[in-house]
Amino acid sequence: MQSDSPLKPLSVMSIVGARPQFVKLAPVAKAFSDRGIRHIIVHTGQHYDEAMSDVFFADLSIPAPDVHLGVGSGSHGVQTGGILAALDPIMEEYRPDWVLVYGDTNTTVAGALAAVKLHIRVAHLESGLRSYNRRMPEEHNRVLTDHAADLLLAPTEVAISHLAEEGLADRALLVGDVMTDVCYLVRDSILASPQVSQWTSPVATGLPYLVATIHRAENTDDPERLGNIISALKDLPADVVLLTHPRLKARAESFGIELSGSSLHAADPLPYPSMVAAVLGSVGVVTDSGGLQKEAFLLKRPCTTLRTETEWVETLTDGWNVLDPDLSRVRSIAVRPAPITPQQAPYGDGTAAQAVAQALIDHAAHA
Ligand code: UD1
Repeated sequence: MQSDSPLKPLSVMSIVGARPQFVKLAPVAKAFSDRGIRHIIVHTGQHYDEAMSDVFFADLSIPAPDVHLGVGSGSHGVQTGGILAALDPIMEEYRPDWVLVYGDTNTTVAGALAAVKLHIRVAHLESGLRSYNRRMPEEHNRVLTDHAADLLLAPTEVAISHLAEEGLADRALLVGDVMTDVCYLVRDSILASPQVSQWTSPVATGLPYLVATIHRAENTDDPERLGNIISALKDLPADVVLLTHPRLKARAESFGIELSGSSLHAADPLPYPSMVAAVLGSVGVVTDSGGLQKEAFLLKRPCTTLRTETEWVETLTDGWNVLDPDLSRVRSIAVRPAPITPQQAPYGDGTAAQAVAQALIDHAAHA
């Protein structure tokens, strides 16, 4: 049963605010619309640049947010607390059957906390990922959100096993990865386009290129670490297109680090379809982004990850993704042939958002 009354559809409030959450929201919004779920979208404003926010709503056909909190940037406490305080009256006004939070950002943990305190059921999408690195702000956000939420929507078997280890198996459900839904859809529309042969490097040198992104606090906030990473990128044996997150741009400017030079070309962040096209046109990816590691895997491009660990451990299979935290191998492995062994499908078949909609219907308090 979908609701306690045929006149009152199940209502779900999505709380989003940062770039990867807009990508996850796209297939979920479509699945909710297909199933007649009333969907209230709240944008916290954690990301606010057009290239980090509006462009994703437009390109991925996401309905405009019902509410925009406009919280913006700040220290963790200011940002998380600002979102938490601003959500109270919104949640009181709408009183949804579910609050749905996505991933591991400050928006996620604030959304979950606001809902539990108002006794509104919370579902956590992309639940159960762990880096076990307590220096990452995202790790606290994930763990706290999982322990606060009523329904844990896990993308992989590994995520389910993490939740079981923490005593959360009763609330956990394997739904697959919604980013895979979007990635496959966008990939297929790109490959079906007659212009496909025109997709070359976003900096148009016409040479084989790597796509690079660096945005994690642990890589950007220390001048020596960031300087070493940029030097290593400048030393790679192919053109490197560095898509610059605002955090990277701000830190590099304040440390006096030049982001272009030699074979390294800094460029603005790309909209999602252009990002998928750029990866498809590349010979590989160098990144510290979780989402991009997975997209490289799904699009069958070798990835080198400049971190000590990955939450998406399945990407490491057969060397599709290789971790190089100390930058000792990146020069020799960034341009390498793709593995020849066939890939499994650890992230599902592109129908995870439908499973999310079904789970929220099945587990509603009045189901
Ligand atoms: C956040 C998430 C991270 C996620 C990333 C995706 C947290 C703790 N981190 O990191 O998990 O991988 O989003 O992008 O929630 N800025 C702008 N314009 C914007 C947004 C940010 O200029 O639209 C700049 C500001 O200087 C800001 C800095 O980027 O202080 C960092 O932004 P913030 O939202 O705090 O964290 P991200 O690094 O984006």
